[in-house]
Amino acid sequence: MNKLNIEFSEKPTIDDLFIIPVSSTEQQPKAFEEQNTSRKGQLTALLKEGMISGKKGSTTLLPRASVRSANLLLVGIGDTPITLRNYREILEAAAQAAQNTKHTSAHCALTSLDVVDTTTEQKLVHASLIFQNSLYRYTDLSRGKAAKESAPVLSQLSFPLDQGVDNQLAVKAVAQGQETAIGMALTRTLGNLPPNILYPESLAEQAKTLAKTHKLKCTILKRADMEKLGMGSLLAVAQGAAVSPRLIALEYKGGKGAPIALVGKGVTFDSGGISLKPGAGMDEMKFDMCGAATVLGVMQTVAELGLPINLVGVIPSVENMPAGNAVRPGDVVTSMSGQTIEVLNTDAEGRLILCDALTWTQREFKPKQIIDMATLTGACIIALGNHTSGLMGNNDSLQKALKTAGDTSYDRVWRLPLWDEYDEQLKSNFADMGNIGGREAGTITAGCFLKRFIENDTPWAHLDIAGTAWVSGAKKGASGRPVPLIVQYLVDQTTA
Ligand code: BES
Ligand code: MN
Ligand code: ZN
Repeated sequence: MNKLNIEFSEKPTIDDLFIIPVSSTEQQPKAFEEQNTSRKGQLTALLKEGMISGKKGSTTLLPRASVRSANLLLVGIGDTPITLRNYREILEAAAQAAQNTKHTSAHCALTSLDVVDTTTEQKLVHASLIFQNSLYRYTDLSRGKAAKESAPVLSQLSFPLDQGVDNQLAVKAVAQGQETAIGMALTRTLGNLPPNILYPESLAEQAKTLAKTHKLKCTILKRADMEKLGMGSLLAVAQGAAVSPRLIALEYKGGKGAPIALVGKGVTFDSGGISLKPGAGMDEMKFDMCGAATVLGVMQTVAELGLPINLVGVIPSVENMPAGNAVRPGDVVTSMSGQTIEVLNTDAEGRLILCDALTWTQREFKPKQIIDMATLTGACIIALGNHTSGLMGNNDSLQKALKTAGDTSYDRVWRLPLWDEYDEQLKSNFADMGNIGGREAGTITAGCFLKRFIENDTPWAHLDIAGTAWVSGAKKGASGRPVPLIVQYLVDQTTA
């Protein structure tokens, strides 16, 4: 994906596609009025004739009025006040329509709109992110030709720098939005890659490449290393697969003190194992490594932005397969923490690899906070649908900060409780705990399971991204979430 060249300028050049808002109400935005005046009332006339619409998300192209003016793209903004959700929809429509023309440059006046509860800087973050994101295409060798035909040509974008806006903050906001989108693109591509191409070993190679280009420290543990560390739970999931597991760690040093740790579930394909999943839609279990892909996307963005923090990213990666030597329901395994687990369902494999990764992360890096991300439970999709990630944890202020970052980035989360009553559902007659807690509150009992592996009350948050990490149906593909949420959270840490 090419990186857009984004700048600030007062006016469009003649070659720019000039993107301006049009309202469905009587009161038109300033940019519309200015164009209407210079076009001698043409815009209001066309509006009356229904040739231009102010309906939210509608787009109209108007050719230049004279050799000295720019082509126009009018974008409907609907009613005022504009919510953040609507602002983003408007931008998405604008970016899409701009990409459908052959313009290589655009000037976008939509960032001057007032948006409810949103700062000028945040408006720029969203606009830069959405425009950069509109350049994303999933490309691999098999789709070479199709990809070429739909290759985007937009390479240059400018925004007006509104009065009273600090230039430095505006530049920072643009960088955040753009680098977040580029991080999301990495996350999406890794998520979209088929499981015969992306498996633990090749995921580790991707991490090494990322480490090389961004001067990160990279550590890769193989099966023998994990055996020495006593990671019996992670290894149990891996034992039935033909491909061998990896534990990947990336370290970014941009600040002082203990790092923040991100841990991402990296199941490159989840068949369910002996507790085999039904066949329909099983292909989508290639996305079961989207937590891992998020860790890599965030590491890239943070390194590109050069944030003044220390960050480690840890990825336990396995394939979950049925086999003669696969882990069975009823098997009891010993985790690195020493706690024993009765494997009651081999399809609850995410928590089995995460628990050992959490133990190792705490002992190896002594992080000041841990955030794990996992496509962990189908139950989370039942609870929150595809709009919102589940948020759980052991620390109120960490969860509040994540909630705020989710609202700011519009990559939203909602909290679920990890009360003792739920934890009791994990009781086992044959081990310290079972790996499932029954049908009720499946997302919460998975969170309770992970909580048992947090030592010394280290602030920890768990994000269940089962519903948000990818989109099903005609637009099937990884979404790049929750990269915007995590990047916003980390940026917030640098200013708090
Ligand atoms: N990766 C799945 C969760 C999942 C399912 C995410 C569907 C997105 C869509 C996870 O490993 C799993 O299979 N979880 C089980 C847990 C159950 C056995 C307690 C589930 O949700 O059914
Ligand atoms: Mn599973
Ligand atoms: Zn899974």
